[in-house]
Amino acid sequence: MAVATWSQEAPGGAAAKAGARDLAAGHHNLQVLPADISVPVLARTMKRYERDLGVGCSYCHVENRATGELDYVSDENPKKETARIMISMLDDINERHLARMGGDQRYAAAVTCGSCHQGRASPPAFEGRRQ
Ligand code: HEC
Ligand code: HEC
Repeated sequence: MAVATWSQEAPGGAAAKAGARDLAAGHHNLQVLPADISVPVLARTMKRYERDLGVGCSYCHVENRATGELDYVSDENPKKETARIMISMLDDINERHLARMGGDQRYAAAVTCGSCHQGRASPPAFEGRRQ
C-alpha cells in the first residue's frame, strides 16, 4: 500500500513537514490549479478530492516503486489527467457560468466534485421517482 503522508500523519507530523518542504522546493507541475497556490490550500484541495470521490491519494498519483512513496509530480497515472479536465470543467461552471447569476451567494462555488461524484469514483446514476 502506498503511504499517503498528508492523510495518514497528524497535522505538523514529520512526513507532513517533509511534504511541505518538497512543495516549498518548487518542483511543481501544476497545469490547472494556480501556480502560486499555498501548501495548505493545495493540501485542502487534495483532501477534498479524496472525500468527494471516496478515493485515496493513490487513485490519481503513482507510487514510486523505488521508495514506495507517492510521486505527486508525476503524470504517469491517467486519472490525474482526467482530474485536470474535471478541475477545468468545474472552474468553467463556477467562474464563467454561475458567476453570471447576479452575485446571488447561492451560486458562489456552488458546484463541487461531490455534486456529481457523491463520494464515488464514478458518479452514481440519477434514480428518478417513478411517475
Ligand atoms: C481525483 C484525483 C486526485 C486525488 C484523489 C489527489 N490528487 Fe493530488 N493532484 C491531482 C491533480 C490533477 C494534480 C495536478 C493539478 C494541476 O495540474 O494543476 C495534483 C497535484 C498534487 C500535488 C502537486 C504536485 C506538484 O506538481 O508539485 C500534490 C503535492 C498532491 N497532488 C498531493 C495529493 C495528496 C497528498 C492527495 C491525497 C490526500 C492527493 N493529491 C489526491 C489529482 C488528485
Ligand atoms: C458535472 C459532473 C461532474 C463533476 C462536477 C465532476 N465530475 Fe468527475 N466525472 C464525471 C463523469 C460523468 C465521469 C465519468 C465516470 C464514469 O462514469 O465512471 C467522471 C469521471 C472522473 C474521473 C475518472 C474516473 C474513472 O473511473 O476513470 C476522475 C478522476 C474525476 N471524474 C475527477 C473529478 C474531480 C477531481 C472533480 C472536481 C474537480 C470532478 N471529477 C467533478 C462527472 C463529473
